[in-house]
Amino acid sequence: MGFLAEFDAAPEGEAKIGVVIRWLRSDWRTMYTELRTHRPILKTPAFTMVTRATDVLDVLSQPSLYTVRANQRTMDPSVGPFMLARDETEINWEEKGLLRAVLRWDDLQRVRQLAGQVAAVALSEAEAGSLDLVPTIARRVPLRIVQNMFGFNAPDESILSWSFATQHGMFRNLPFNQEVLARCHAAGEAMRAWLWPFLAAKWASAPSGGEDTVSRLVDLSRLPAAGISAERVLSNVCGLLVGAIETMSQAIVQVIDQMLSYPEWLAAALAADARGDIAEFDAHVFEALRFNPITTIQFRFAEADREIGCGTPYAATVSAGTILAVCTGSAMFDAALMPEPDKFDPTRPSQSYLHFGIGHHECLGRYVGQVAIPETVRQVLRMPSIKRAAGAAGSIDFNEGPFPEHIIVEWCVSAPTATPAEGISA
Ligand code: HEM
Repeated sequence: MGFLAEFDAAPEGEAKIGVVIRWLRSDWRTMYTELRTHRPILKTPAFTMVTRATDVLDVLSQPSLYTVRANQRTMDPSVGPFMLARDETEINWEEKGLLRAVLRWDDLQRVRQLAGQVAAVALSEAEAGSLDLVPTIARRVPLRIVQNMFGFNAPDESILSWSFATQHGMFRNLPFNQEVLARCHAAGEAMRAWLWPFLAAKWASAPSGGEDTVSRLVDLSRLPAAGISAERVLSNVCGLLVGAIETMSQAIVQVIDQMLSYPEWLAAALAADARGDIAEFDAHVFEALRFNPITTIQFRFAEADREIGCGTPYAATVSAGTILAVCTGSAMFDAALMPEPDKFDPTRPSQSYLHFGIGHHECLGRYVGQVAIPETVRQVLRMPSIKRAAGAAGSIDFNEGPFPEHIIVEWCVSAPTATPAEGISA
């Protein structure tokens, strides 16, 4: 039975949401293809799904009409007011500008080197050519970036647990679970309690000279011209952590999983690497991620009664207060945005991808992710005869949670290996 037949046959209420969630988790591409073709705007009892690229871009480009207000319930008690729960305020304008200034592009080569080294060391330490990617590489790479490049230098276990709980509660709590939200708020409190003395010590000492992102932000905040208070520094440092770890980990794991499923994609990516064409290698990574992105939806809140899909036969009015599920994953398979969408085509313009969102809330960490994710993937894929472990161990295990927890890969230990992390450049 197709998605729409199942959805239409389900009783009103929770059951219909259950159908959507089940398809999202099992076969989202088929579901979205059906929706784009037959019902591009689908009203469900909890949210309205927007699936065609033109409508997705329309909604995401009008931030005051379609807002992120609904994020306030999850984010404010955890990290305080933050850009991803506000639209067209000074928080978005001024703080995003300040944060962009301290996440400097001239760091990106060092980010890439760090990602490559962390991955290469884990691979070289693995015994018998086998490794569980998630704890040893996919989470560890962003963890070290947060500690060493961002300068948020809390202990490993604290960072990992705060980032898991906040990312889960803020963005993956579907269907809604009160305990997940409570853990998100508690993690935010613990994170802020750790950060206050950490930041206070920085303010009490001489300006650092800007070695890392947090130190730069602290240095900037000493200047009245920057207009950023201590509380605002704190919220933004929290936001850096919330965004970084599970997102990058999931992307790394899912790209490697795709590459191992499609030997011809893997061969093409490795050929680009062998030619020393890092940009081309990276393009293969983000094209592979399109086939299994970390999320296929951004949620928005309709502030006024509006028509979506104006001028089309499927135009629909949404009333003020409607939650919109803006299906970026669907848009990335719409021929209007991605010609021949089912074809693996690493020559697509990088601007067409929606992995890092678009518009007002475009990801602050996108350029960090754009170098750290592919470099980590590159180190793993170039291991000789890389393959997934046999049986269930070689598939992504979510352990009934929102993020990848395990996947074991294997490689041939007798063959000569590339020098760890060789050929890294930004
Ligand atoms: C360095 C690591 C990262 C950091 C610090 C970070 C941080 C952020 C922040 C602060 C925002 C909100 C921006 C705003 O409201 O203006 C954001 C948005 C977003 N990020 Fe990231 N992020 C990181 C990595 C990633 C990765 C790896 C992905 C996916 C592959 C991702 C996907 C997104 C998406 C889709 C949005 C838009 C959300 C929306 O429009 O509702 N992020 N990120």
